[in-house]
Amino acid sequence: MPYCVHSYLLRFQVLGDSEFMYPKYFIFLLASLAGARATTELLDRNLVYRSPFADQPQLSHNLQEIQARHSQLSRRQLKDASGFRDSHYPTFYGGDFSNSAVIWGGGLNFTHSVASGDPFDTSVLLWTRAVPISPDGSSELPDQSVPACVSFKISTSSNMAEKPADSGTAFTSYDVDWTAKLEAKGLKPDTVYFFQFSDCANSSIISPVGTTRTLPSPDSHTAPARRVNGGNPLTLAVFSCSQFQAGWFNAYGFAAHNTTADIFIHLGDYIYESLGSGAHIGRQVLGRELATIHDYRQRLNQYRTDASLSFAHQHAPWITVWDDHEVADNAWKAGTADSNDTALGCSFSSTGACFSDRKLAAVRAYHEWMPIRQVVPDDKLRIWRNFQIGKLLDLTMLDTRQYDRDITDVYYNTEFINTIAALTNRSLMGSAQEEWFYDTLSRSKARGAVWRVVGQQIVFTQLNESGSFDLDAWDGYRANRARVLDHLYKNKISNTVILAGDSHANWVSDLAHPNDTTTYNPSTGAGAIGVEFAGTAVTSSSAFGSGISPAAADAKSRVLVDVNADLQWSEGSFRGFFTLTIDADTLNATYYAMRNTSFANLDGFVSARFLVKNGQNRLSRPVAGGAVSAGVLKSNVPVN
Ligand SMILES: *[C@@H]1O[C@H](CO)[C@@H](O)[C@H](O)[C@H]1NC(C)=O
Ligand SMILES: *[C@@H]1O[C@H](CO)[C@@H](O)[C@H](O)[C@H]1NC(C)=O
Ligand SMILES: *[C@@H]1O[C@H](CO)[C@@H](O)[C@H](O)[C@H]1NC(C)=O
Ligand SMILES: *[C@@H]1O[C@H](CO)[C@@H](O)[C@H](O)[C@H]1NC(C)=O
Ligand SMILES: *[C@@H]1O[C@H](CO)[C@@H](O)[C@H](O)[C@H]1NC(C)=O
Ligand SMILES: *[C@@H]1O[C@H](CO)[C@@H](O)[C@H](O)[C@H]1NC(C)=O
Ligand SMILES: *[C@@H]1O[C@H](CO)[C@@H](O)[C@H](O)[C@H]1NC(C)=O
Ligand SMILES: *[C@@H]1O[C@H](CO)[C@@H](O)[C@H](O)[C@H]1NC(C)=O
Ligand SMILES: *[C@@H]1O[C@H](CO)[C@@H](O)[C@H](O)[C@H]1NC(C)=O
Repeated sequence: MPYCVHSYLLRFQVLGDSEFMYPKYFIFLLASLAGARATTELLDRNLVYRSPFADQPQLSHNLQEIQARHSQLSRRQLKDASGFRDSHYPTFYGGDFSNSAVIWGGGLNFTHSVASGDPFDTSVLLWTRAVPISPDGSSELPDQSVPACVSFKISTSSNMAEKPADSGTAFTSYDVDWTAKLEAKGLKPDTVYFFQFSDCANSSIISPVGTTRTLPSPDSHTAPARRVNGGNPLTLAVFSCSQFQAGWFNAYGFAAHNTTADIFIHLGDYIYESLGSGAHIGRQVLGRELATIHDYRQRLNQYRTDASLSFAHQHAPWITVWDDHEVADNAWKAGTADSNDTALGCSFSSTGACFSDRKLAAVRAYHEWMPIRQVVPDDKLRIWRNFQIGKLLDLTMLDTRQYDRDITDVYYNTEFINTIAALTNRSLMGSAQEEWFYDTLSRSKARGAVWRVVGQQIVFTQLNESGSFDLDAWDGYRANRARVLDHLYKNKISNTVILAGDSHANWVSDLAHPNDTTTYNPSTGAGAIGVEFAGTAVTSSSAFGSGISPAAADAKSRVLVDVNADLQWSEGSFRGFFTLTIDADTLNATYYAMRNTSFANLDGFVSARFLVKNGQNRLSRPVAGGAVSAGVLKSNVPVN
């Protein structure tokens, strides 16, 4: 795009311009630029450039190159500016700005509101997307080689009136789809905060205000379990399987508007790679089956236009992990149902993308759009991580899917997977993650955390569904499941609560070795070592059949709770989510059913509540207090 065009020149602003509203800013930016000539500091502060491939030159962004692009532009401007007169550039002539950055000054559009995530005790990630607005409202693209500059403030006052607890500035650009992810630091533990982004070039252009929070400190002196969350129970809202074309994301909005959820957990299948047909409910997805970075970005972008989802991100911090569909259906470490690294894998779609390229594109777009931390700089795939939430709980997030999973059921190999499902050398997580997981459980017990909540993708408990087992769940990796249970039993680790998504139905179980009704008593729960709360989908259709009525689903559930010893509640008709409300004595799971996801609404009801008492390692009896509003309890199945 030519720079001699007057109207374009108007859109740029040189950092250090006396028009800057904040003197503090002015100093900060000048100091950082002067002190670090041609460094990439303002690009570095946007974590999106660093994740997920820092230290891997062939995969990472070359920040020097992006920076050089901007410096070159600024020099070119200097040269071409001779005939240019505009009060915005009083210091432009004569000054040596050859190394200063030029930023977009024509206005920014915060297209997808704000989000936050992965809180620690003194820091949290803040996210936004800032797209340059086209000159004079024209449909012409603004200059794409100029970075946009955003700054954030975070404060304990909702109107941002107080002196911010932290603030900062960073660049974003088309290289990262205009996303920005910054870490706010130096915060107080266990505290609710408000945050807002603005355009560095014009402080009256602002994003919506987001709400977030920090975690209580892991240290017992400052955060004994009873004092977490100011002495109130902490509520986690848990989601999985949100397919855009299958329905409206009412569950997210319901959790934000109608529950007291403090932290939102997503167990994966946040997006789907498929196209489907959602036109009849106004939910047609754009693009094609996902394969390239553009495809994955476009899909994430479209999902985040759902008002309920957008509001939920603005409303509270999220802690997320991916399942298969963030890459593609039934992913394992070297393939998916319709792609792998064989020759055929590279021609599965019209793009000809090979599986590895597809996975890298998916991972990059995920890190751009999600408020997630990159755990290890040079481990691009590692999202398994642990959150120490005071002495109340450890929230351990696993990746049973993309990181190092041995081959799964990809439909044409079901027979084969059946023959290897019990092999001891099969792993869902890979040995590094498995060892880390067992160690994390043990360390959580050793540090005196009351609860261990494990956020992971797939259903853990053995489920015999009319003689068949889901080999893409833990039932396809039985030795790995046995190792987890052995670790809990042998080390007497109490109060473990496993969460699962993936299955599009609700399953609540005591944790025990499959088939072992000697140690474990299904009617009293004695002998169990914890509980599993597996949740239904936000929208994806039921495992029992698309659009199945409550009565028809219950008929199936009745058989399942009868046949499966550990399974205490099954429900398959409603879409929804669940919450965990946790204090030092009890943990309550509340399941929410959304009445209708074919249009946007906040209509839902509680389908079941479960109580777990500290030290009991089982669902409290009578299970669900003896009554549920949907689905079938084992205790209600007549014994014949
Ligand atoms: C800002 O972005 C939103 C969402 O993409 C869009 O609807 C709106 O038209 C944009 N506004 C401008 C001024 O570009
Ligand atoms: C800053 O943005 C506001 C709101 O969009 C606009 O009215 C104003 O003209 C802008 N100021 C400058 C100096 O561009
Ligand atoms: C890769 O995909 C091809 C075609 O679908 C299939 O024949 C082959 O078995 C797959 N390889 C693996 C290891 O799954
Ligand atoms: C796993 O064990 C089986 C049975 O012992 C063996 O056939 C197979 O080669 C092993 N696989 C690996 C990856 O070691
Ligand atoms: C699975 O359940 C069916 C009843 O649905 C039963 O006939 C069968 O024996 C069970 N299979 C196993 C392996 O437990
Ligand atoms: C439980 O028993 C059934 C029937 O014998 C068997 O098919 C299944 O593999 C067993 N499950 C485990 C985890 O041993
Ligand atoms: C869980 O529910 C029980 C009632 O069933 C209540 O006594 C307890 O206080 C609740 N616990 C939390 C953390 O909300
Ligand atoms: C859901 O809402 C749609 C649109 O109003 C309606 O056509 C449909 O019958 C409703 N479904 C149920 C199960 O109530
Ligand atoms: C959820 O909250 C919204 C907004 O406050 C309200 O309109 C709606 O009726 C609530 N839904 C239920 C089921 O209470």
